[in-house]
Amino acid sequence: MFTLITRQPFLFLAAAALLTVTGLFGAAPKKTLKVGFAQTGAESAWRTANSDSMKAEAAKRGIDLKFSDGQGKQENQIRAVRSFITQGVDAIVIAPIVETGWDPVLREAKRAKIPVILTDRTIQTTDASLFVCFIGSDFYEEGKMAADWLAKAVSGKGNIVELQGTPGSAPANERRKAFADGLAKYPSLKIIDAQSGNFERSGGKQVMEAFLKKHGKAINVVYAHNDDMALGAAQAIEEAGLKPGKDITLVSIDAIGEAVKAVAAGRINCTVECSPLFGPKVYDTIAKVLAGEKVPKKSFNQDELFDATNAAKALPTRQY
Ligand code: AHR
Repeated sequence: MFTLITRQPFLFLAAAALLTVTGLFGAAPKKTLKVGFAQTGAESAWRTANSDSMKAEAAKRGIDLKFSDGQGKQENQIRAVRSFITQGVDAIVIAPIVETGWDPVLREAKRAKIPVILTDRTIQTTDASLFVCFIGSDFYEEGKMAADWLAKAVSGKGNIVELQGTPGSAPANERRKAFADGLAKYPSLKIIDAQSGNFERSGGKQVMEAFLKKHGKAINVVYAHNDDMALGAAQAIEEAGLKPGKDITLVSIDAIGEAVKAVAAGRINCTVECSPLFGPKVYDTIAKVLAGEKVPKKSFNQDELFDATNAAKALPTRQY
């Protein structure tokens, strides 16, 4: 009792001093937000633009971003998520390289009460409570837009070779399925071969070289799951003495600056946009989640399509 009474004036003085200090110098400094981001890797120009968007926006907002490059391996991403949990970050962002195999580590994050936001790529899970929400593009819609554009451009006829993305990844799975679904009503527009170029320019070039050796002039169309592979394929076509965009129609996805330029120049015929610039949206969402607000389970970016009719005009305002 004695100690309680004698300590009270001290506590009162300490509180008054604190109020005076904050009154004089503004509110007490806010806690720095710590966010862990498990990125897939650096396989494409799209990916670099995505990493830059996440890093630049974090720096702008004073967020302590712990960035991990998974170098194309799921096990590296899982290790990164575990390290974010150990470091006690406020939120974890994952761009999952493949769709399956995430449940165990997501359960660990849930046990640690750290919200997980999926960006860019979705996952397959039976427990949707393991992540708060997904932010990215609608890959199925992109594949569908590519198929519809192509069917019109080649009047529903031709032999297609398909350069697929990373096996098991959401964009490769959905862009493949949507494109096949979109072509179903055109029996004379056929996919004669398909192989993964792993979303890489060198992969697209190598696979296209092999396709050209195998099928020669039978190829009328290249459908590439991303621009880097389309640009690699364009190079292989040129090296084979043919004209990309004229002898062979190229349709791809991403709309990176270099590809939109190639469309304007007639070297690629069409690219469907997949915006990587969602840093601001991710951090806005994290702020809402940490404030206890409800956020949509899935939120898609609005994407457009570029071909000879609009590519040149769009060039000056492209941001990636
Ligand atoms: O997940 C998005 C895809 O991954 C982009 O289309 C591609 O360029 C990237 O590597």
